[in-house]
Amino acid sequence: MKHFLTLCGMQFLFYAILASTSSNTGISEDPEFVEQIENITVPAGRNVKLACTVKNLGTFKVAWMHFEQSAILTVHSHVITRNPRISVTHDKHRTWFLHISNVQEEDRGRYMCQINTVTAKTQFGYLHVVVPPNIDDSLSSSDVIVREAANVTLTCHASGSPTPSIKWKRDDGSKIAINKSFSVSEWEGEVLEMTRISRLDMGAYLCIASNSVPPTVSKRIKVSVDFPPMLWIPHQLVGAPLGYNVTLECHTEAHPTSLNYWTRDDGHMIHDNNKYHTQSRVGSPAYKTHMQLTIYKTEESDYGTYKCVAKNPHSLPDGTIRLYTSAPPSTSPAPTTSELPQTLDPQLEEKSDNTIPSHKNSHREEKGRKGTKYTSNLNEIDKSEQKFQDSEPRGTHYEWPEQKSNNGCSRQGFSLEKHIIILLIMIGSFSHLCRR
Ligand SMILES: *[C@@H]1O[C@H](CO)[C@@H](O)[C@H](O)[C@H]1NC(C)=O
Ligand SMILES: *[C@@H]1O[C@H](CO)[C@@H](O)[C@H](O)[C@H]1NC(C)=O
Ligand SMILES: *[C@@H]1O[C@H](CO)[C@@H](O)[C@H](O)[C@H]1NC(C)=O
Ligand SMILES: *[C@@H]1O[C@H](CO)[C@@H](O)[C@H](O)[C@H]1NC(C)=O
Repeated sequence: MKHFLTLCGMQFLFYAILASTSSNTGISEDPEFVEQIENITVPAGRNVKLACTVKNLGTFKVAWMHFEQSAILTVHSHVITRNPRISVTHDKHRTWFLHISNVQEEDRGRYMCQINTVTAKTQFGYLHVVVPPNIDDSLSSSDVIVREAANVTLTCHASGSPTPSIKWKRDDGSKIAINKSFSVSEWEGEVLEMTRISRLDMGAYLCIASNSVPPTVSKRIKVSVDFPPMLWIPHQLVGAPLGYNVTLECHTEAHPTSLNYWTRDDGHMIHDNNKYHTQSRVGSPAYKTHMQLTIYKTEESDYGTYKCVAKNPHSLPDGTIRLYTSAPPSTSPAPTTSELPQTLDPQLEEKSDNTIPSHKNSHREEKGRKGTKYTSNLNEIDKSEQKFQDSEPRGTHYEWPEQKSNNGCSRQGFSLEKHIIILLIMIGSFSHLCRR
């Protein structure tokens, strides 16, 4: 009944309009509603009609009103509102249809169908307007490029009715690392915050907005994690007899993709010709590369130092491999470690005691600090696996993923052995690799 109070003004208007058109001639039975107005849920943009069915209308009139807006929409077959999307039709004065075209969110609410009997008869129907989710690009993150170990915050804002919920997933289905100790396959909320992001977190993230209204929408946000090139040399000392072919190898990780090449002592880039063959294979993930340099028919002048170089905008480390003369294999099977050559370069012997030779490089102070750091890193790692990085930010040691790459590398080692030769891993010359 409260509606009648609030609609007092409307009713006054209603009757004022009716006064000119209605003349109650006193028909025996009062008009009545036959059935309830159906509640309707409709996506915005559609057309909709609400039906109000009456009997014994006689000379009475039916009006449609919007309750929350206190607006008279139609009276009898006249449209009162100025809203051009509203119209009214009837089926022999029995069913009165209120038509709303191109429904908008503001059209939602309670619709009243009223008969102008002495005590007005009223019934209500609800119109629910739903809106599929829509991601607002201007309030959402776009692709980001960050340095490794930075914190990353992605946001995604969606409108819609009912209010959409947001969840995040990685495009490749892997888990989202919220922080070092907490990973989830799905994260809920407008904001996704990842602390100390690592290269493993690089990739596309999907923000998915859904409410009950199809279609669900998503936005793909690419997260690029930049880091300085990192080199990993499985065998830093490689022996090859004169006249044999030998392949040196080096693994790199870098983002953005580094320019990778080999040099000799003189720093000149080695190009493919009938002496050398170089190969770079992109690994998985794509920031990994496996570099190989094959030297055909080794001659005296081929022995010495080789460097694999990886350059990206973040730094410029290089890695050194020393090729020395070794005894040819005595028999066809690959030599065993007991047959290691005794002809090691004395300089190398000297270095094998794990001291870090000082550098001609200008950044002496920094070098010293780094040297220490690398030494301790070396103590931590398995001897078949050497890892280092030019300038690891904020002091943590990056953990090499334990899957494919290691196996891949040791396999490489074996194939090298099979082909030739004698491999010697010497940690001593490690610091060569740390040059900026
Ligand atoms: C429409 O919805 C209202 C409230 O949600 C409810 O009271 C009414 O019974 C519904 N009408 C029909 C026809 O379902
Ligand atoms: C990253 O977030 C962590 C935890 O919220 C905070 O301790 C750290 O200072 C943040 N680092 C940076 C670089 O903002
Ligand atoms: C990691 O994130 C979760 C969820 O935000 C939080 O509860 C937890 O304390 C965080 N752990 C660390 C080590 O920051
Ligand atoms: C070295 O490689 C070349 C080209 O692949 C090949 O023809 C030659 O037989 C190889 N030599 C030895 C000693 O394996």
